[in-house]
Amino acid sequence: MKVIYAKNYEEMSKIGCELIVKQVREKENSILGLATGSTPIGLYKELIKENKDGLDLSKVSTYNLDEYIGLDKDHDQSYNYFMYDNLFNHVNIKSENINIPNGTNDPDVEVIEYEKKLREVGGVDIQVLGLGANGHIAFNEPDLELNVPTSIVKLTESTIKANSRFFAKESDVPTTAISMGMGSIFSAKKILILISGSNKEEATKYLLDSNKITTNNPASLLHLHHDVTVVIDESAVKVK
Ligand code: GLP
Repeated sequence: MKVIYAKNYEEMSKIGCELIVKQVREKENSILGLATGSTPIGLYKELIKENKDGLDLSKVSTYNLDEYIGLDKDHDQSYNYFMYDNLFNHVNIKSENINIPNGTNDPDVEVIEYEKKLREVGGVDIQVLGLGANGHIAFNEPDLELNVPTSIVKLTESTIKANSRFFAKESDVPTTAISMGMGSIFSAKKILILISGSNKEEATKYLLDSNKITTNNPASLLHLHHDVTVVIDESAVKVK
């Protein structure tokens, strides 16, 4: 696991973007795994700039980590809406190459079809991840057991609370989601996890200091992947 300390959010976003740009320059039809949340927004802004400056993304395809169950794709808090608003509306990625779990399809069918698509492409080339305050990645919440394939997940109270900042009230936050499982995430050839936010300190310390893994901190399992880069916004997460 390679760990890079960035001096602030902007630098973290630039370093993250450089890795994506490198990937696309090496392989124009790269498959990118993308994440939502506040953390990757800066990376997406940088990628929009790169695209305007000539980086062609027309052959790239994308797979998103997760989506709330029950939110229509045009709902302003759906992850589909988030991705179009923060990235896809501003770059030349083709809409037919964009894959996001559909939160209004029958979830039992959707999880199987989404996982099948991921397997058919053989996993993404590089997966962008954020970190939940409780150590979750995508919506793989701390638990005794973790899902391997894309699955229906129940969000924990702490995640519902954390994500309620984007909704009018806490009771509006969906309680279930479709999420890539740990196996789906680990099928990525490379993983880039960006960490920003003062509430991430404890989960990050465990990830970096413990030399241990636990399903109570799903991100810690990243120690088992052969190509992981962690970029930390030091101004937001005091870990050293
Ligand atoms: C959500 C998403 C995760 C994301 C996490 C942290 O729960 N499902 O993919 O990493 O939030 O979000 P933020 O970056 O806003 O702290």
